[in-house]
Amino acid sequence: MEQWTIQKLLDWMNGYFTEKAVDAPRLTAELLLCHVLGCRRIELYTNFDRVVDQAGLAELRRLVKRCAEHEPVAYLVGRCEFYSLAIKVNKSCLIPRPETELLVERAIDFLRARQTPAAVLDLCTGSGCVAIAIAKNVADCRLTATDVSDEALSIADANIKTHALADRIRLLCGDLFDPIVAGLDETSFDLIVSNPPYVSAAEFDALDKNVRDYEPRQALYGGVDGLDVYRRIAEKIEPFLRPDGALILEIGYAQGPAIRQLLEETALFKHIKVEKDHSNNDRIVTAHKA
Ligand SMILES: C[S@@+](CC[C@H](N)C(=O)[O-])C[C@H]1O[C@@H](n2cnc3c(N)ncnc32)[C@H](O)[C@@H]1O
Repeated sequence: MEQWTIQKLLDWMNGYFTEKAVDAPRLTAELLLCHVLGCRRIELYTNFDRVVDQAGLAELRRLVKRCAEHEPVAYLVGRCEFYSLAIKVNKSCLIPRPETELLVERAIDFLRARQTPAAVLDLCTGSGCVAIAIAKNVADCRLTATDVSDEALSIADANIKTHALADRIRLLCGDLFDPIVAGLDETSFDLIVSNPPYVSAAEFDALDKNVRDYEPRQALYGGVDGLDVYRRIAEKIEPFLRPDGALILEIGYAQGPAIRQLLEETALFKHIKVEKDHSNNDRIVTAHKA
């Protein structure tokens, strides 16, 4: 019977995924094999000649097939890395993106510059990745995180427990600010962050298959022009943001001017900055309350 070593499997998967136009074929092959073998990537390289048994091959075959149909590898292995943290994911939540790490960085900068323990609100928390990365890096802040999806919140809850943050992050289910109840919950925040759904109708139709067909529409689609949720945040934010507080948003690649205008129209903010990401796309808006 043919012997499949780690090296041979990686080479074969790399070729197969390249043929099927799967993103990052070699990395994808390594992630799948690590998942099946329960090992770290470095261990693949130190065990190239290890023969994978029949049970491992059967599981790998199932995953390879789904991957070739463009199911995202993070859903197949049930996790991804965000801000150097392991984050559990499933198809009920968006897979955290590297671009969103810039949102976290700006939030951390803001909170560290503030010397007192801060209250932070993360709207549209999904897997909880943003709230968790902030809590891990700013020791004395406490966070409230909301999402409309119960299923996404149960993933966020699992992630919060894995990272031992249950005493600092409170999850609430509902539309934006709606689930926050005066008397029960913190109602005013030093910092409000959000990575809401912001894909427009035209962009949605043009999304890659692995995004459009697998990630939750509710996490992506932001209305005809992609700005629906920002409009509603801008309308409702006033009572929730402390006088010297800030709002930090992730935005779509060309939404900077529209979001600036939207926030200017509220007359709530004294300083609004639109920042580009490493690919020179509009990505982060920081607005300080007047
Ligand atoms: C783009 S995803 C961001 C998830 C996560 N914060 C991240 O950065 O990976 C947007 C999230 O917003 C949630 N969502 C959509 N509309 C919402 C609303 N009106 N109120 C609260 N959450 C909403 C979706 O369920 C989804 O989890």
